[in-house]
Amino acid sequence: MDKYLKYYEGKRILVTGGAGAVGCILVRNLLGLNASVIVLDDLSSGYTWNLPQNDQRLLFVKGDVVNEVDLKRVFNEEPQIIFHLAAFFANQNSVDYPERDLNTNALGTLRLLQYSAMYGKLERLVYSSSGCSIYPSDAPMPFKEDLKASLFMGTPYQITKMVGELYMNYFYKIKGVPVSNARFFNSYGAGEVPGQYRNVIPNFIFWAMQNMSLPITGTGEETRDFTYVGDIVDGLLRMGFMKEAIGEAFNLAAGREIKIIDLANMVNRLTSNDKEIKYLPRRKWDTKTRLLACNEKAKKVLGFNPNPDFEVGLKEAVGWFKENWEEIKNSAQFGPGASSAVRGKS
Ligand SMILES: NC(=O)c1ccc[n+]([C@@H]2O[C@H](COP(=O)([O-])OP(=O)(O)OC[C@H]3O[C@@H](n4cnc5c(N)ncnc54)[C@H](O)[C@@H]3O)[C@@H](O)[C@H]2O)c1
Repeated sequence: MDKYLKYYEGKRILVTGGAGAVGCILVRNLLGLNASVIVLDDLSSGYTWNLPQNDQRLLFVKGDVVNEVDLKRVFNEEPQIIFHLAAFFANQNSVDYPERDLNTNALGTLRLLQYSAMYGKLERLVYSSSGCSIYPSDAPMPFKEDLKASLFMGTPYQITKMVGELYMNYFYKIKGVPVSNARFFNSYGAGEVPGQYRNVIPNFIFWAMQNMSLPITGTGEETRDFTYVGDIVDGLLRMGFMKEAIGEAFNLAAGREIKIIDLANMVNRLTSNDKEIKYLPRRKWDTKTRLLACNEKAKKVLGFNPNPDFEVGLKEAVGWFKENWEEIKNSAQFGPGASSAVRGKS
């Protein structure tokens, strides 16, 4: 077994937002490596059915990263490593509810860092940042980690996810907390429940499986650097272990562009959906017509090695939908009339 994977054996790991899309896959991986896992999640967009059941090594704490009683509760378990994934997700949600976004993503991250600094025993705190908040829409592609950030953001979520990185860097430089910033780019694969504020892939699969027409907000020529959740989790595990990751930021991205129209056609093919695609106007904040990250730094420093085959993860996601259809159908959060206008991206 690789050294970075072996490292987790017997460790106590806190995963905030562990019942969410990426969190549930990370938790499964950690348990598979024989770690003990504490999940702190308020279940606002996560689901306990999505976590392993009856595993003594998993402690689930329903609570809020902003709430000090909940933070004390999980720090009492003496975690050695934290993966901070809890967030108010994502762009459109933050446009609709900017104060809730500020509360969880900024204040929640600050409180977690304050407790981490006071606790003083962390080996690592890995933060799930977002490529879409760090790189401006007019930046040269592929985005490299050292690009200058913009002062003009498209959504409150982009602002607060960046604030999270700024707090991480402050607590690293001034308070000595060993942090590492992971910049995700549109995660996809098993584990993400569709919904009004979710990513495009689970929503497309959800609608296509019900033989509905897939809505594209834009021309369909827009691209995203969709990254398989298993690869993101592998990158996180590397960042939680490697000394070279401390105080650094890494793009955890596949490093390839997929057009939304190609994605829609692939989803329709994999689900045998014959309904025609429909086109809707692009949302006002949705100014990023292309997203492509450079993953050279992650490859070089972490040994990150994402799967180049996009369809493998997509097939896995469709399989996961089929296996968990009843739970997914009961959990999917869509507001009235939402399905016609959603193509959420983180
Ligand atoms: N999924 C992506 O494409 C993507 C892209 C960029 C960045 N990210 C970041 O990665 C992280 C994980 O993303 P995800 O797709 O798993 O999101 P998610 O919404 O599925 O998971 C977030 C989890 O945090 C929980 N949560 C929300 N507010 C909380 C609070 N105040 N206290 C405790 N728990 C709370 C939710 O219930 C959920 O289980 C997030 O921080 C997100 O901003 C994700």
